[in-house]
Amino acid sequence: METQERATSTHILAIPFPLQGHMNPMVQLCNRLVPKGIHVTFVTTASICTSLQIQGGSNLMINVETVPDSAIDVVEDLDIYETFIRSFRAAISRGLPDIIMKKRNSSFPFKAVVYDSVIPWILDIVHENGLKGAVLFTQPCAVCSVFYHMHQGTLEIPPDEGSEISLPGMPVLRLKDLPSLVYDMSSYPTLLRLLVEQFSTFEKADWRLFNTFDRLEEEILKWMANKYPIRTIGPTVPSMYTDKRLLGNYDYGLSLFKPNTDSCMKWLDEKEDRSVIYVSFGSLADLADKQMKEVAWSLIDSKFSFLWVVRNTEESKLPKDFTSELHDNGLIVNWCSQLEVLSHRAVGCFLTHGGWNSTMEALSLGVPMVAMPLWVDQTTNAKLVADVWQIGVRVEADENGIVTREEIAARVKDVMQGERGLEIRRNAVKWKDMAIEAISEGGSSDKNFTEFAMELLST
Ligand code: UDX
Repeated sequence: METQERATSTHILAIPFPLQGHMNPMVQLCNRLVPKGIHVTFVTTASICTSLQIQGGSNLMINVETVPDSAIDVVEDLDIYETFIRSFRAAISRGLPDIIMKKRNSSFPFKAVVYDSVIPWILDIVHENGLKGAVLFTQPCAVCSVFYHMHQGTLEIPPDEGSEISLPGMPVLRLKDLPSLVYDMSSYPTLLRLLVEQFSTFEKADWRLFNTFDRLEEEILKWMANKYPIRTIGPTVPSMYTDKRLLGNYDYGLSLFKPNTDSCMKWLDEKEDRSVIYVSFGSLADLADKQMKEVAWSLIDSKFSFLWVVRNTEESKLPKDFTSELHDNGLIVNWCSQLEVLSHRAVGCFLTHGGWNSTMEALSLGVPMVAMPLWVDQTTNAKLVADVWQIGVRVEADENGIVTREEIAARVKDVMQGERGLEIRRNAVKWKDMAIEAISEGGSSDKNFTEFAMELLST
């Protein structure tokens, strides 16, 4: 370990917000820093660490340090957000200076901290301890810009029902295209505050990184880059999935869930090319019972095979007689390796909540989407997927806020079959190529990433 440490010249800390959708891009970013000679130590709380499945332990350049905390669980119940956020902040604020100090007088001190944009208060601790701070935004620049305008007071809120919202560098948005927390402000005030506050220390950050790429969000990125030096470094999807020659390459991972990958891959291997609907609503979604049932029956009605990730906490919402209807046409798992599934030749479309990671992963792997946004950034992501990039369609809810089985089945057919499906698949290939270009050697994100790594090395 000592030898390895001496061989590298820079040691940094990485602090993800401890939710799966925030950890993945941070881990993937760090996986790319390691080959550049940067040693990474992740920091999280002791209680989060007990829930983590750590993959890739043989990689000596990445390790995890914990700070003590009071018992907080992995978030499954949205009501505990406030407690969760406060406890995380208290534990990290107390423990981070100790971690930094412990190494200060060693031959290998920490030089910088990469942290998630939703924990901007970290920057003050980082600077007080003489380190530099790089903020990583894990949602699209388009969504971040909406919160930026709220922070600056340049977006009138709440917008009127029926109004069209024009923001610089953005497509015209209907109310329902805004991040849900903006048009439904009373629903999760804690989370709305968290996202608006992302910009509270933005100006002071030493680097501002966005998990997106230049051609994907051209206009809004230009607008943001005019105001602040920013760097696009996405998609952070590991290159082994976009370049099959690298398959088998070893990557480090932090997961709050245990995947059921073998059974998925064996099942997919038996299926024809592009014949399967992959269904997942990410790591947090809490669907209404009725909505869950509509999804279930829509999948049966669609007549396509499907692989559905239903987390343990959602399982009891499945209709009673549903599993007996599956036969070999449907497989339910509690968690899978989504990147492996999305790269499988049998997957024809992704019925998704449209979290930013799922969106970027599907886009990078050329899988068309049926977007069923639930909340936060997903409503805006769905707008971009369906109307701007045209790599999928978006379902519409009925007057009771439920997306019916008929609507879901019809939109799945739109993507899987016919002229429209073909057009969407062509666009998906086009965007996949652009994503790969961005992260390949000399591409826009690759250049930004290399510059960032070089600056870290010379810090
Ligand atoms: C949350 C928000 O909901 C999302 O909108 C925001 O952009 C990031 O934080 P989440 O809902 O979990 O994330 O969705 P998403 O961003 O798609 O992240 C889920 C991650 O879990 C993806 O990287 C996906 O590959 C992974 N995943 C999901 C698995 O590895 N296995 C699964 O079975 C399901």
